[in-house]
Amino acid sequence: MDNSIAKERIVFLTREIERHNRLYYENDAPEISDAEYDALFRELQELENNFPDLAAPDSPTVRVGGKPLEKFQQVAHRLPMLSLDNAFSEADIVEFDKRIKKDLGLSAEAVIDYVCEPKMDGVAVELVYENGLLVQGSTRGDGVIGEEITANIKTIKEIPLRLKLDTLFPPGLVEVRGEVYLPLAPFREMNAEREENGEAAFANPRNAAAGSLRQLDPKITARRPLTICCYAPGAVDGHVFGSQKAFLDTFKGWGLPVNSLARPVRGVAGVTRFYEEMAAQREALPYEIDGVVIKVDDFALQRELGEKSRSSRWAIAWKFPPRQAVTVVEDIVPSVGRTGVITPTAHLRPVEVSGVTVSRATLHNWEEMERKDIRIGDTVVIERAGDVIPAVVRVLTEKRTGAELPLPLPDSCPECGAAVVKIPGEVAVRCLGLACPAQIRESIIHFASRGAMDMEGLGEKYIDQLLRLGLVRDVSDLYRLTRDDFMQFERMGDKLAANLLPAIDASKGREQATLIFALGIRHVGEHTAKLLAAAFGSLDALLQASEDELLTVREVGPQVAQSIVSFFSGGENRRVIERLLAAGVSPSVAAKQVGGRFTGKTFVFTGSLERFSRSEAQKLVEHAGGHAAGSVSKKTDYVVAGAEAGSKLEKARQLGVTILTEDEFSQLLREEP
Ligand code: IVH
Repeated sequence: MDNSIAKERIVFLTREIERHNRLYYENDAPEISDAEYDALFRELQELENNFPDLAAPDSPTVRVGGKPLEKFQQVAHRLPMLSLDNAFSEADIVEFDKRIKKDLGLSAEAVIDYVCEPKMDGVAVELVYENGLLVQGSTRGDGVIGEEITANIKTIKEIPLRLKLDTLFPPGLVEVRGEVYLPLAPFREMNAEREENGEAAFANPRNAAAGSLRQLDPKITARRPLTICCYAPGAVDGHVFGSQKAFLDTFKGWGLPVNSLARPVRGVAGVTRFYEEMAAQREALPYEIDGVVIKVDDFALQRELGEKSRSSRWAIAWKFPPRQAVTVVEDIVPSVGRTGVITPTAHLRPVEVSGVTVSRATLHNWEEMERKDIRIGDTVVIERAGDVIPAVVRVLTEKRTGAELPLPLPDSCPECGAAVVKIPGEVAVRCLGLACPAQIRESIIHFASRGAMDMEGLGEKYIDQLLRLGLVRDVSDLYRLTRDDFMQFERMGDKLAANLLPAIDASKGREQATLIFALGIRHVGEHTAKLLAAAFGSLDALLQASEDELLTVREVGPQVAQSIVSFFSGGENRRVIERLLAAGVSPSVAAKQVGGRFTGKTFVFTGSLERFSRSEAQKLVEHAGGHAAGSVSKKTDYVVAGAEAGSKLEKARQLGVTILTEDEFSQLLREEP
């Protein structure tokens, strides 16, 4: 390659990588997969190696991550937060190991002790503890300056607000680096809910975690079950760690979550064994990992090896191969969900992707499908990324013959023919048909499902049969089923009746909040249903509630209030509810919600408590029917102030909110309601 061609390519790659950095780090919405990004990055690195004169001093290969967003306060990290170099093969690891021995002046035969850890796919953060108390949380940002996200960090239950330090002289400063991530199960739930609500789904758990963490409103963060895994110290004052292993053990003892799969290994052979074990376990892990991280164990050796501008010389990430494959879109089929959202699904020529045969991919919505220009007949790259349902990464347009067909936006529901609308501000297209069989089917599946009325054994298969036989037309019909009805089933009618009828019957007494959630009102998830049940006490009272009354409920905004009112204003929905109650559904009132010591009361905890951890105190409040909030407002009833309480206490004073000491709080807990 001659100089001018290389130069052109370097300019192109730099611009592309910078654009993808912005999409990934700042917008949390990448356009390409990690593997494709890594390929661009590697190509640029190689070109810069071969043409060192052309390497820009501010090339993305020597910089970390993205610019911190301006909407957050910025914080300078005491020590730069670096990234990791990538390895893609055992040969890369052999190379890494050789270089380390050379840099340390050791013989080629020496065996280095490493610590290997799963590479968590989330968002890098830094937590700052002063005298054992959490005082700040920030994102990595560009490695030097990050975004201040303390309030959001504090909503993550696994992060201790106070370290468990039982020494006489606790370290004055402990900086903790770790990865905040969203486990796969809540990630899937969150995406399903987003699609039903007409919002764009997150491409992978990492984006979901990043999006959740960088919320200006910590209440939104609090509702996402984020968690953390700590993997490195930052600046530390008053304690000395000798090795990565010792560091992990100490952190664990201090109450900081570390990955239990991390372990010391010896030399390249040990590293390779660990990599293979993790690759084999990857599919079964409850969270997404994209490789393993290898670190020189001894901190003295780490210091000797030192850092480069973007990464450390003593660590490397060995990435897993991408879970991608090339196949053909044989058809694109729209399907209608519970709330009428129409989702296009690609039916694929079956193809194996890392051990799993894939024949479907979600296209999320028309906007997304049109942006990627996916057509029936296209050859596409698909990727399984942290989800069971794979997604289409991109179309191989060079394979087009001209016969490929885009699927136009439907002007009527493919299931019932009713009109469809695209609601402004939503990415989704919705069917407006009240009697749409697809919506009815999905709403019955939802009603009976585990998180809702939990009718054990009554899954999609039997619900389809019940619908086909005309035995069920809406959810209330489930409670009218008899043994005779099941005898119409093709097989095992008596056995099914014996199992399912008691399961259906048992669901009659589920809690108020469960029933509200099971009704499948748009924007009313499990959490909101609980708030509504606590606020209104009965379904009947909720039914009568006006939009204004609904708006007085904490966390209920105009969108949710409108959705509830419009749900109950439909005569059909009211009729179904009447029929449910007539059939003997009588929701119980959760003990903790009504009659609890703190029913309807909102507590805010601030400062450090002696007797309880923050999460214990919050649980106690919730058990007594109250609510624990993260910030003080006019709706706050009590602020419990521990030692060194700061701005929240100040705000409580300004607003005239009752302030309790920890003693007064525990006294209140013990009093009879
Ligand atoms: S150590 C110099 N350990 O991967 C050491 N990083 O691609 C810095 N990551 O920025 C990082 N799991 O966000 C380390 N066990 C682990 C990790 C890990 C995930 C992330 C981290 C880092 C990125 C680099």
